[in-house]
Amino acid sequence: MTAADPISYLRDAFSGRRVLLTGHTGFKGGWAALWLKRLGAEVTGVALPPDDPRGFFEAAKLARIVDHRIGDIRQPTAFADLVKDIDAELVVHMAAQALVRKSYEEPLDTYLTNVVGTAAVLDAARRMPSLKGALVITSDKCYENREWVWGYRENDPMGGADPYSSSKGCTELLVSAYRRSFFSSPDSPLLASARAGNVFGGGDWSQDRLIPDIMKAALGGAKVVIRNPASIRPWQHVLEPVYGYLLLGARLISRDRAFAEGWNFGPDPDGVVTVETLADCIQAAWGPGGARFEFGEAKTGPHEASVLRLDSTKAKTLLGWGPALSVDDAVRLTVAWHKAAAAGADMRKFSEAQIADYEKSIARRNSRPTHNV
Ligand SMILES: NC(=O)c1ccc[n+]([C@@H]2O[C@H](COP(=O)([O-])OP(=O)(O)OC[C@H]3O[C@@H](n4cnc5c(N)ncnc54)[C@H](O)[C@@H]3O)[C@@H](O)[C@H]2O)c1
Repeated sequence: MTAADPISYLRDAFSGRRVLLTGHTGFKGGWAALWLKRLGAEVTGVALPPDDPRGFFEAAKLARIVDHRIGDIRQPTAFADLVKDIDAELVVHMAAQALVRKSYEEPLDTYLTNVVGTAAVLDAARRMPSLKGALVITSDKCYENREWVWGYRENDPMGGADPYSSSKGCTELLVSAYRRSFFSSPDSPLLASARAGNVFGGGDWSQDRLIPDIMKAALGGAKVVIRNPASIRPWQHVLEPVYGYLLLGARLISRDRAFAEGWNFGPDPDGVVTVETLADCIQAAWGPGGARFEFGEAKTGPHEASVLRLDSTKAKTLLGWGPALSVDDAVRLTVAWHKAAAAGADMRKFSEAQIADYEKSIARRNSRPTHNV
């Protein structure tokens, strides 16, 4: 069913479902909210106010289509109070302090948001009478990075050398303890976690992220310093992991206990490229007038892992998930989104059209006989 017609499967799974999504004012959460609405879900979003008026939430005018609530997951009692009337069937927890560099400046706040905040969300979730499942979004950086060439698998050890990565490793340990303590009896809801790669797409304006920095420089005609150009990362368009989260969320809603685990959603090998290769690819897609690059010396800033790959065999084999876009396609979608936003297009419609095209890409990918291998 999922492999043959995954979008109908998702529509059946989500239509009319009450979904509580944290982090909907952020980049990934914004795309997830729009896609969930398209699938017919009733979405309540809880997050801090959006940081940037050009970001996805404001651009797509999401406050008009979701039940938009401002709340702080670092304040468990106030958060529980804010969501107590929702009685969601699925909770998708994306809210986080999501930046490695900021985690060096604000380590305490990073742990408070990412670890204690996740406990606050799960505690509120498990008190919801209709809850069928909860999905916590962590990161590829949750694994202890050995700087090796192989992809990390779901059963590799957690770790993290910087506060952000370690906070995500801690979040995974917390999820595991909550699953065994509160989400494992036969009639209890299910709890899963998801780890994706370096995500990009329209509407991300975060500080110190490669693609947002290049987009800002391209639109302002400025120069951008590319740190650590030789670092290898698993790059992917935002819709690729969000598709994985939806497939996994649908399994949780149907109470399929085999799916209440950790899952990787990383790109295929062609998406695992150096920072410099991706920057060049963006330059080519932008065409004349794009950002000018200055390649910084490697390792000029605080430590960041230089090699990171994810092994997504489990999601491909058991969920029928898999990347549907090449890196070039992903870059083209991102550049097109930012050019359209700069030109004053209706970005809700534009983003919905990108989701519709992506759904067609999934169908094309699924019609290839070897897609599930
Ligand atoms: N973007 C990536 O490349 C990437 C890669 C791997 C994992 N992730 C994870 O995916 C999730 C979403 O990332 P993103 O890129 O959309 O981040 P983002 O920074 O764009 O959005 C973060 C969201 O979390 C909310 N938030 C932050 N602190 C909060 C608090 N104290 N209370 C309530 N809400 C709070 C923000 O308001 C925002 O809505 C995060 O968990 C992140 O760690 C992102």
